Amino acid sequence: MLLKLLILGLIGVSRALDVVTPYNNKVIFSPPSNWPIPRTLYARSVLIAQDGADQNVLLATWENYSPQPPNVWFPVYRSTDLGQTWKPLSNITDTQNGWGLRYQPYLYELPSAIGSFPAGTIIAAGNSIPQDSSQTRIDVYASTDKGRTWKFVSHAASGGPANGGTPIWEPFFLTYQGQLVIYYSDSRDSQAHSQKLVHQVTTNLVNWGPVVDDVADSKTSDRPGMATVAALPNGKYIMTYEFGGAPEVNFAVYYRISDSPLTFASATGHNIKATTGQQTQSSPTVVWTPYGGTNGTIVVSANNSGGLWINKQLGAVNSPWTLVSTGAAGGYARDLKVLPTNQQIFLVVGGVLSGTANQVLASVVNLP
Ligand SMILES: *[C@@H]1O[C@H](CO)[C@@H](O)[C@H](O)[C@H]1NC(C)=O
Ligand SMILES: *[C@@H]1O[C@H](CO)[C@@H](O)[C@H](O)[C@H]1NC(C)=O
Ligand SMILES: *[C@@H]1O[C@H](CO)[C@@H](O)[C@H](O)[C@H]1NC(C)=O
Repeated sequence: MLLKLLILGLIGVSRALDVVTPYNNKVIFSPPSNWPIPRTLYARSVLIAQDGADQNVLLATWENYSPQPPNVWFPVYRSTDLGQTWKPLSNITDTQNGWGLRYQPYLYELPSAIGSFPAGTIIAAGNSIPQDSSQTRIDVYASTDKGRTWKFVSHAASGGPANGGTPIWEPFFLTYQGQLVIYYSDSRDSQAHSQKLVHQVTTNLVNWGPVVDDVADSKTSDRPGMATVAALPNGKYIMTYEFGGAPEVNFAVYYRISDSPLTFASATGHNIKATTGQQTQSSPTVVWTPYGGTNGTIVVSANNSGGLWINKQLGAVNSPWTLVSTGAAGGYARDLKVLPTNQQIFLVVGGVLSGTANQVLASVVNLP
């Protein structure tokens, strides 16, 4: 009996890692040097609280520039030690278009059931694009076994050529009042908006509602892009995005705060810049963690620093942003996840835009 308890205890400890010594730039995947540049880019992750006996499982995926043909796919790697070591788990492959799953993957665990998909279903969205770049299509796949196998669910949206004026890009998911929201960048209306941010809503993952604007500037040349959203503890929502055409610097990172994640269009955009002067630029992501005082901490990544911009006042207008330095590599469209202690942030990066030495790297930093 004692032995059994001891063994169960050991299993329990080994399978429920919820804190880790901070580390920098552990290699998840190093692409062969004969792959087309940038080889890897735009990594994304999901933290799964429970997968069978395993707790706190991380999955990662990224843009994978494997030689063509064959069609490209989104690889899925899995870690059970908070990102220190990784193994390949599965591939998400295009089963619908014959084009491949090429750009901007996104992974998400449903916190509650959506239609016939139970809570805990892992969903993936990404841009399916043919080799000649003639179309863009954001497709949704689902896994009911925590990322081991994937099935196509729906085409959420379709756009024009990836190398032309009217594509769609960069999906992101959020659950709100029992509905799933997909946000993405939209140039289909480029006569009026070179690019804008929009969302659509579904109650079953299959049928998607109308396209609703979130950031659609009156100046045609403005290009807001790369929306990510986080819920705040005061019931509000924060959206960050890069602002092509921003007055501070091109692609400065901006944020909006709204009572509902469906009404960002009527909120005002604010630039994110540290009180010590460091300006954010390009491909942001945002998370909120309860760590760091009564308001918790808003944590923002941007391309131009390995550090993180943080705010402890729920993003109140003119409230201070601080740049926290980290040993984590900077890069394009880094992804952030709040780890179980709430003080630790997991970062994954797939390299820099046009990078000639990109790898997929994981880091964990402790917030101050
Ligand atoms: C993903 O696909 C590649 C190319 O076909 C293959 O080499 C690799 O083993 C696959 N990975 C998994 C986990 O199935
Ligand atoms: C991202 O940041 C790096 C390093 O500062 C810079 O070289 C690169 O041009 C930036 N890329 C974008 C898209 O802003
Ligand atoms: C929490 O945020 C509010 C603004 O949203 C601010 O007035 C207040 O000082 C903050 N509290 C702390 C402890 O920073």
